Amino acid sequence: ATEKRVEALLSKMTLEEKIGQMNQISSYGNIEDMSSLIKKGEVGSILNEIDPVRINALQRVAIEESRLGIPLLMARDVIHGFKTIFPIPLGQAASFNPQVAKDGARVAAIEASSVGIRWTFAPMIDIARDPRWGRIAEGCGEDTYLTSVMGAAMVEGFQGDSLNNPTSIAACPKHFVGYGAAEGGRDYNSTFIPERRLRNVYLPPFEAATKAGAATFMTSFNDNDGVPSTGNTFILKDVLRGEWGFDGLVVTDWASASEMISHGFAADPKEAAMKAVNAGVDMEMVSYTFVKELPELVKEGKVKESTIDEAVRNILRIKYRLGLFDNPYVDEKLSSTVMYAPSHLEAAKQAAVESAILLKNDKGILPLQSSVKTVAVVGPMANAPYEQLGTWVFDGEKNRTQTPLNAIKEMVGDKLQVIYEPGLAYSREKNPAGVAKAASAASRADVILAFVGEESILSGEAHCLADLDLQGDQKALIAALAKTGKPVVTVVMAGRPLTIGKEVEESAAVLYSFHPGTMGGPALADLLWGKAVPSGKTPVTFPKMVGQIPVYYAHNNTGRPATRNEVLLNDIAVEAGQTSLGCTSFYMDAGFDPLFPFGYGLSYTTFKYSNVKLSSAALKKNEVLTVTFDLENTGKYEGTEVAQLYVQDKVGSVTRPVKELKRFARVTLKPGEKKSVSFELPISELAFWNIDMAKVVEPGDFALWVASDSQSGENVFFKVID
Ligand code: IFM
Repeated sequence: ATEKRVEALLSKMTLEEKIGQMNQISSYGNIEDMSSLIKKGEVGSILNEIDPVRINALQRVAIEESRLGIPLLMARDVIHGFKTIFPIPLGQAASFNPQVAKDGARVAAIEASSVGIRWTFAPMIDIARDPRWGRIAEGCGEDTYLTSVMGAAMVEGFQGDSLNNPTSIAACPKHFVGYGAAEGGRDYNSTFIPERRLRNVYLPPFEAATKAGAATFMTSFNDNDGVPSTGNTFILKDVLRGEWGFDGLVVTDWASASEMISHGFAADPKEAAMKAVNAGVDMEMVSYTFVKELPELVKEGKVKESTIDEAVRNILRIKYRLGLFDNPYVDEKLSSTVMYAPSHLEAAKQAAVESAILLKNDKGILPLQSSVKTVAVVGPMANAPYEQLGTWVFDGEKNRTQTPLNAIKEMVGDKLQVIYEPGLAYSREKNPAGVAKAASAASRADVILAFVGEESILSGEAHCLADLDLQGDQKALIAALAKTGKPVVTVVMAGRPLTIGKEVEESAAVLYSFHPGTMGGPALADLLWGKAVPSGKTPVTFPKMVGQIPVYYAHNNTGRPATRNEVLLNDIAVEAGQTSLGCTSFYMDAGFDPLFPFGYGLSYTTFKYSNVKLSSAALKKNEVLTVTFDLENTGKYEGTEVAQLYVQDKVGSVTRPVKELKRFARVTLKPGEKKSVSFELPISELAFWNIDMAKVVEPGDFALWVASDSQSGENVFFKVID
């Protein structure tokens, strides 16, 4: 029925009206300013309108005053929450819990749709292996499988059970594709991803999002091997439409059509419009080259009208699926009853609990015990409400955010003495006197809680860093606190992994919360005092120093892989003033190990893996491997372990990663409890793009690990046979 309605409408449209649908404008001025364009049918979508009254007024112009009454599609970047802000996506990924991602997206959709927004530019599922890149905060980290699972869950959350439910918003997996591989971690930079790596590493999360029903896609800013994504026929037509059968809408990123001129891929706006549309783009975000240039391009035969028709079909189809033709307006009173609903705040808190990673916990200093009578709360992130929300929170509100300081006071303020002395007003501040004052105040406490990191604005789009150490006098602050001799519990709020090796050494415990969102404070207070137990795992490798980047666990092997023993011998030689005689692959000043590997995270309790068994030692390509193992809680607290299954294809027609995550599960156990856990792994999921650029499972030997992180676990072996 939808297709019939699309065709019927399309047949009535003039060329100009069709091209108008392909135009997305950013809201400006008053309603009248935008009305003349809308009346003429020159606008298909508007981004950045958030007032339901204005949204309805604009929609009314489209419905009642344009010739064909085609509704507008209202868009907004609702990335990790609309009003109730969840942890940044990188934090959510640390939960290894797709339900967290789905719930977060659902809450965001309910709140955003209540003002009339029906399209979000999320999830961002760019694989990111360089924490210098500020946008690493917005994605799910370095791993293809984890990103695929979390990204698909976000699509499901945004879109709900059916797109035409008024609380559903169309998802827009972005940025298609390869944007996260920006050279040097500098935003917008070129990428050089060969087709095999593109297919094995960068494309699968987008394919998973397509399978999850994503309604739209956004092209990326980067040029890959010389071709900007917005003009890349191979990815937009051959892969997305051809191989994956995507029938939704493809939008450019902000002005990424006209930016093909700066790339040197198009000489002028006309050529940019031609290349984008002919490559398979349906809608242009804000740069107006389509409305201005397409009429003439069609006249000249450089863009076929059938190409325009196809783009408009894709746009109208999504508008029909969203139910906009039947139900274009929003109830203007709805939003006041929806925002910050208690269930939304509860879900945001739970997400923040599950997103926090315990990186160190010497002598079980955490959770804090009743013997702790005085705590010092220190650091620029302890009470920085807006700064704990993270990047892309246009609509997040400072006065609704619960900070750690306030939450701690609320939770234990009547039983404990809480000394608050921030030391630094903001992360980049240089203030030795403030540091000294904080250290002196903190020396009176039993335990020091230091909240450090980086403010929201230090990560995100166009916010890349070449130095990932704690900024300003924060390093000096932790050093001074450590010198007091009192145990320092460091809580890091950041948009990326920071190089905090020294601070980890100086601290008794380290909790990494990323930017935890609206409910970060209560979540952290619960974790610090043991009302909740940490279960997060690193969704990205933490480097020791920037010079190690890129450092990620699923790398291919060299012909000369180093051993830890060789690194040790090198260190001994260097210490003795000699030069290492090593001839394997490691840095003489950094070895090859990161600070923390992918998948790493502690709990207040301990877990033991044993008894790993495979359903068979030799399997055919169409069979399913069942891996069972025992997981035991060997500590004193109830806790949740993220059990991980990694596989290595030992020999391939091309070299294969040393390990790849294939499954994970959150398992909750009471103290002393032991459970048998099993993973089902269809052998077909071991397929990769091989030497013939075909996706196949190659028979041969495989190693498998069931483990607590990407660096531990005993390997077991199996074979795939023809
Ligand atoms: O959605 C974003 C995109 O990720 C970066 N450029 C701007 C778009 C719209 O705000």
